Amino acid sequence: MAYPTLSIFIISSLLVLSSFSNAKTPPKPKAFTFPIWKDDTANQYYTTIQIGSNATTLNVGIDLGGKLLWFNSLEYFSAADSFRPILCGTKQCKIADGIGCVFCFLSPPVPRCTNNTCSDYALNPFTGTSDYSGIGTDVLRVDSTRGTQYQVNNFPFKYAHDALLEGLATNMAGLVGLARTRVSLSAHLSSAFKIREKFALCIPSSRGNGSMIIGETAYTKPFQQISESIWTTPLIRNPSTSSSELVGNLTIQYFIGVKSIRVGETPLALNKTLLSINKRTGGGGTMIRTVRAYTSLHKSIYTALVNKFVKAAAAKNIKRVASVAPFGACFDSKTISNTKTGPDVPTVDFGLQSKSVFWRFYGSNTMVRTGDGVMCLAFVEEQPNLSGPTTSIVVGGYQMENHLLEFDVPASTLGFSSSLLLRDTSCSQFGAA
Ligand SMILES: *[C@@H]1O[C@H](CO)[C@@H](O)[C@H](O)[C@H]1NC(C)=O
Ligand SMILES: *[C@@H]1O[C@H](CO)[C@@H](O)[C@H](O)[C@H]1NC(C)=O
Ligand SMILES: *[C@@H]1O[C@H](CO)[C@@H](O)[C@H](O)[C@H]1NC(C)=O
Ligand SMILES: *[C@@H]1O[C@H](CO)[C@@H](O)[C@H](O)[C@H]1NC(C)=O
Ligand SMILES: *[C@@H]1O[C@H](CO)[C@@H](O)[C@H](O)[C@H]1NC(C)=O
Ligand SMILES: *[C@@H]1O[C@H](CO)[C@@H](O)[C@H](O)[C@H]1NC(C)=O
Repeated sequence: MAYPTLSIFIISSLLVLSSFSNAKTPPKPKAFTFPIWKDDTANQYYTTIQIGSNATTLNVGIDLGGKLLWFNSLEYFSAADSFRPILCGTKQCKIADGIGCVFCFLSPPVPRCTNNTCSDYALNPFTGTSDYSGIGTDVLRVDSTRGTQYQVNNFPFKYAHDALLEGLATNMAGLVGLARTRVSLSAHLSSAFKIREKFALCIPSSRGNGSMIIGETAYTKPFQQISESIWTTPLIRNPSTSSSELVGNLTIQYFIGVKSIRVGETPLALNKTLLSINKRTGGGGTMIRTVRAYTSLHKSIYTALVNKFVKAAAAKNIKRVASVAPFGACFDSKTISNTKTGPDVPTVDFGLQSKSVFWRFYGSNTMVRTGDGVMCLAFVEEQPNLSGPTTSIVVGGYQMENHLLEFDVPASTLGFSSSLLLRDTSCSQFGAA
């Protein structure tokens, strides 16, 4: 093991709260649960965390590709007596994969100014801005799926400058990361409690509420059966060491291998080069990202999708109307009937590793109401305005809504269900049994 004293540090960092604190052997939790809501104004998805000795409650956006938690909160700051900087050259600094060291003195030290502190960038994926400062730790309270609250000491995060909040929904104090690092929420809970680094995301639509479950547990009905018949696709690692200002480090992001796109039964003619990752530049491929409202597609893929979709819609007597930015194809909603999976429009399939494995999007995931009587195809053209390599397809939150997604990090697989609406359920019903 690379870090021989790690297990000692972990055991001493666990403490069970409430009635269990005096028990000889606290029950070992299997999984933890977090709520998920959607902010309809910003089209962002967030959860709630409790951090610090005073258990400051914060809403933080969920970032599948985020390295670690970052936030800015005056309420936390003024009560931050249990904040501890991660010092340069320590094992914790190595685990955090920090970049550089900051020297800053104030007495008493405050979260943004501590001496000899392991540092890194916190990234705002909505604006492409970043903030460099020290990494620290504090206690995080987490709820097990059995309903017991646990306290995790030494939970790593960055206290960011308030300017980094620009572009986040107004009720959000920062972002919590779930990426392939050793300091993401999933990685830290996994190592602290010795549970598998696995998490289930069930992202709600506007009207609902969803849940994230980190660890392994049985689910409520009918989700247990759904999870047993889920499709599985490999999570691919982007080998490039380059990063872009909007996505950060590409190697920590989750990519999947989309090989084809179909509208109805008709495949789109696509440039296959764009669908695979360019190992040298890191460009191309398909990333999955909760901080994007709608799936974005490379211009040539987007054009092909819009053309085919408009044709297939016309064949169903759906009337096209003027486009509403940022969408490229909009329709008169009076000409679209409704089904239990949403507006009755042609399906869009993302074909994966084999013919029989594809992610099918029905109307509830492909059509968005933009105003009175108008519905648009909920995909956008990627803006080639990045300083770094450009990913060809970025699967966004709208397309993930009301699907059960299971990320198994050690196995490097993504499990995904079909639309939950087909089973007359939704993410609001998802939970641990
Ligand atoms: C911690 O919370 C308690 C109870 O809400 C409050 O009275 C106290 O002032 C808080 N401490 C700090 C340092 O903010
Ligand atoms: C800051 O940390 C450095 C490196 O450990 C140390 O040399 C210096 O004395 C510290 N300064 C203060 C004010 O603590
Ligand atoms: C990107 O992440 C990988 C894995 O955590 C790490 O080894 C590498 O140093 C990171 N690169 C940058 C530029 O941060
Ligand atoms: C396909 O995409 C690649 C990468 O952008 C590009 O270099 C190539 O010219 C494209 N091929 C065609 C036939 O458009
Ligand atoms: C690129 O993106 C930045 C940040 O979103 C924006 O301010 C700028 O106007 C964009 N530039 C172009 C040429 O679109
Ligand atoms: C989530 O939605 C379910 C079903 O609509 C409801 O029973 C539950 O109370 C909601 N939970 C929260 C925290 O809003």
